Amino acid sequence: MSTFQAPKGTYDLIPPDSAKFLAVREAISAPLRDSGYGYIETPGFENVELFARGVGESTDIVTKEMYTLTTKGGDQLALRPEGTASVLRAALEANLHKAGNLPVKLWYSGSYYRYERPQKGRYRHFSQVGAEAIGTEDPVLDAELIILADQAYRSLGLRQFRILLNSLGDKECRPVYRDALQTFLRDLDLDEETRRRIEINPLRVLDDKRADVQKQLTDAPRLRDYLCDACKAYHEEVRALLTAAGVVYEDDEKLVRGLDYYTRTTFEFVHDGLGSQSAVGGGGRYDGLSEMIGGPALPSVGWALGVDRTVLALEAEGVELDLPVTTSVYAVPLGDEARRALFAVVTGLRRAGVAADFAFGGRGLKGAMKSANRSGARYTLVAGERDLAEGVVQLKDMESGEQTAVALADVVAELTTRLG
Ligand code: HAM
Repeated sequence: MSTFQAPKGTYDLIPPDSAKFLAVREAISAPLRDSGYGYIETPGFENVELFARGVGESTDIVTKEMYTLTTKGGDQLALRPEGTASVLRAALEANLHKAGNLPVKLWYSGSYYRYERPQKGRYRHFSQVGAEAIGTEDPVLDAELIILADQAYRSLGLRQFRILLNSLGDKECRPVYRDALQTFLRDLDLDEETRRRIEINPLRVLDDKRADVQKQLTDAPRLRDYLCDACKAYHEEVRALLTAAGVVYEDDEKLVRGLDYYTRTTFEFVHDGLGSQSAVGGGGRYDGLSEMIGGPALPSVGWALGVDRTVLALEAEGVELDLPVTTSVYAVPLGDEARRALFAVVTGLRRAGVAADFAFGGRGLKGAMKSANRSGARYTLVAGERDLAEGVVQLKDMESGEQTAVALADVVAELTTRLG
């Protein structure tokens, strides 16, 4: 007999750990929901051209990492490697930007797919919660998003993360810098692939992790020296707003993101307990993306936080989440009649909003009590024939061990009161 395994680079979320993922998604989205961001859901796949144009033909994501497929009807599709291009596409398609209420603020949560070399923290199927604020150029909006991500991580109890901040300039100043950088890089001693990268995406060369490459980059022209006055002023304002909000960040000139659409503000949240896959989240401004995918000029900013890596960061810091109780009451029937009576009680409890579970399968008292313990329930209800004959059930407080007989008719009310 053969058994199947999850595909390479993927893993299943199973209880009890899966509860952490739900809690992380909840914690990241809560500050967004409280700040005017509306929920958006887009398909898991899109026309491949959207990502080629949006994310960029020269990025690893598009050239190496996309899961592409041709449908029976001949459409070229790709499983989404990221959310920004899809969300902007959907906003344009629904004309949200024309409703006279800019910025259009949206948040999302879902699965993304990249054919990467799997390792701890890097998967082929992963989960993000993201936010996009579309159609407004305002440094307050950039600051808002960074502050909300910081708030989300803090609410989870994370402390050992850092915020790296940079400005990539705009369509005026970045090309001038790009030329200067290319001229500099062409004179270095680099391998073929890196030489090709100089021509396609020279900023990515700055990001090269190899020591011999980094050594040669010490005197590389710096983007900071090429930013135009408007970009400089914008960036200073973002920095000042973060400082005013008490959010600590580090200026990181070398921060180059793996997607081509960024302009001006870019940032990354890195966690020091994660080894090489340290980015728990990232984002920035993408003022040109709308036009790149055929829309009007819509300056925008956003981020996506990786749920998988956030969970790893929690584990690295030893943070135990305060997870909601899954079962408050566990019912253990002894015999057929008790099974019907206690199942009715459980149904009543559930209807009253009390989380309740039941010992199924007519098991003996010992096994059923083990399950009751494992469920984490605060109270257990046990009833046998003699109890029913007296019209009662035994209510056991699992913390104190105290047991009392409660009239069958009163038990839902009694438990609702006790559990507050
Ligand atoms: P990104 O930096 O490619 O940005 O991804 C954001 C986060 O998703 C990363 O920081 C990381 O935590 C997580 N992530 C990415 N790839 C993987 C992987 N293979 N395995 C596990 N986690 C991963 C974006 O996706 C942009 N769309 C963010 C954005 C939104 N920019 C503007 N708006």
